[in-house]
Amino acid sequence: MQTERLDASRPEDIRRAGELLRKGGLVAIPTETVYGLAANALDRAAAAKIFAAKGRPADNPLIVHIAKLDQLAPLVREVPETARELAARFWPGPLTVILPKADCIPAEVSAGLPTVAVRFPSHPAARAVIQAAGVPLAAPSANTSGRPSPTAAGHVLDDMDGKIDAVLDGGPCEVGVESTVVTLAGQTPRLLRPGHITLEDLRNALGEVEADPAILHPLKEGAAAPSPGMKYKHYAPKARVILLDGPFPLYRAYLERHAGPGVMALCFAGEESRLPVPAISYGAESEPWEQERELFDALRELDKRDARLVYARCPEPEGRGLAVYNRLIRAAGFEVERLG
Ligand code: TXA
Ligand code: MG
Repeated sequence: MQTERLDASRPEDIRRAGELLRKGGLVAIPTETVYGLAANALDRAAAAKIFAAKGRPADNPLIVHIAKLDQLAPLVREVPETARELAARFWPGPLTVILPKADCIPAEVSAGLPTVAVRFPSHPAARAVIQAAGVPLAAPSANTSGRPSPTAAGHVLDDMDGKIDAVLDGGPCEVGVESTVVTLAGQTPRLLRPGHITLEDLRNALGEVEADPAILHPLKEGAAAPSPGMKYKHYAPKARVILLDGPFPLYRAYLERHAGPGVMALCFAGEESRLPVPAISYGAESEPWEQERELFDALRELDKRDARLVYARCPEPEGRGLAVYNRLIRAAGFEVERLG
């Protein structure tokens, strides 16, 4: 299949994307978080194609994207007060809410679960495409399953060229990590995936919000995943990644002892030239948003440089940094070494 290159700044290209989606096609679209691989969420055959293109396990459900608040009610059994509150504060924006699903959501999209994840993105091109398609769009991140999420159209093409109908280029993504995912389907709201909207933001809006332990720790053998995506290795470059938790002088000393062929550093901005091995940075130590925006590109860059073993600086797992830490420990398969 020839993958069409579309430009998000051209109205005729937005219309073309909408037309391909209405016909059951797959189009990668920019959002404020990461690029999504979109299909008509109400068309089971179209949704099934997403899983094939990504190599995604069939038990990992998709997020449904809307462009108007009144598109939410038909997708879910009911809209609780908590969902109204979150929508009022954070939509459109990088927040996904999980609620019991309505019958119109095919089992392919919810992966057989009784719930559905819904997001109202703020990116103007994402909203325009959803409107042009005239239907809600199921869209996981537009990477091959297991690879870092794409934050630029070039990343999408690296993984998906020839496997999807089109990619709509809207430039680099502003947020850079996937949306915050919170489930409202249980007794107490529960954070399943941290993002740019933080646990503290959610608690300010709702009061009590639980943080799922799987955000920071590997799932216990045989335990059921509250969010199926938690089970899988994620965000990983081809290299083995090890997180080193400690201050810069200890990090540098560790690298001096462990330098060798194929060894690279994933460090904070400004540290590169002070390290004994080739280094890629992912934002400044004190700027978690910059880290969010740059992390996935940095992970892909390590592959391009043929890194075999990557020692990564460990971000602070607090506030916005929790999202970055959550992605990096998954990229590292939970290998963390404390320094000092
Ligand atoms: O920012 C984002 O959320 C991006 C853009 C494209 O919107 N999308 C995205 O989708 O990151 P994906 O499929 O890569 O991640 C969705 C996560 C997965 O971990 C999945 O398991 C979880 O949300 N999820 C989806 N539906 C769920 C449900 N009904 N119950 C629990 N977890 C769910
Ligand atoms: Mg993903």
